[in-house]
Amino acid sequence: MSTAVSEGEHQLEGLIKDEVLRMYEEVAHHPEKEFHFFHGRRAAEMFDYDKDWLDRCPDGAVASFAGVGNPHERSRLAEGETVLDLGSGAGMDSIIAGWQVGSSGKVIGVDFNPEMLDKARTHAAEAGVTQVEFRQGTMEDIPEEDESLNVIISNGVVNLSFRKRRVIEEMFRAIAPGGRVSFTDIVSARPLSAGVVKDPKLWAS
Ligand SMILES: C[S@@+](CC[C@H](N)C(=O)[O-])C[C@H]1O[C@@H](n2cnc3c(N)ncnc32)[C@H](O)[C@@H]1O
Repeated sequence: MSTAVSEGEHQLEGLIKDEVLRMYEEVAHHPEKEFHFFHGRRAAEMFDYDKDWLDRCPDGAVASFAGVGNPHERSRLAEGETVLDLGSGAGMDSIIAGWQVGSSGKVIGVDFNPEMLDKARTHAAEAGVTQVEFRQGTMEDIPEEDESLNVIISNGVVNLSFRKRRVIEEMFRAIAPGGRVSFTDIVSARPLSAGVVKDPKLWAS
């Protein structure tokens, strides 16, 4: 399989990354704004997040929540497990995972956006979950050892990557034998038009 990337694709990937960074900085700092994707408590309720979890989670984490579904519905997290939350945003999914794995477990939230990481660390401290930590990194080069994770969760993140095959390969590298992956994402049943594929603003949605 060829992995050669043309100059044009390389440039487009850079533009998409910049737009995704910019968009999620807005979500981190101005969650009250309108976005062309679901976010905040209304979205979490729509995706059937447990109401008690939402009440218990710091308001800032819930307000800046962005996702396309509920990866906790199928993750079956258990006490003591090591979990990666890929694209951890302002921390809501990581904090909820932290409650499920308990103090003997560990949740690592990875995000490439420093503003989101700051928010997530503040929210985890507010929630008092010491088993959750946040690391800067990308989903295309997951900053975790081979076969080191029991579970990977992710919510609306893989669709933001220009190199989705690479992301999936990275997930399989980092997951331990017998581990699980539970992610919610967007797929298109039809090939997208060139106009859509080349528009960084649409990638960041
Ligand atoms: C839809 S949000 C997920 C939010 C989150 N699960 C929550 O609890 O609110 C997507 C996140 O993925 C991050 N992201 C986007 N592209 C990324 C990449 N290439 N590597 C790592 N994180 C990325 C964004 O910065 C953003 O915080």
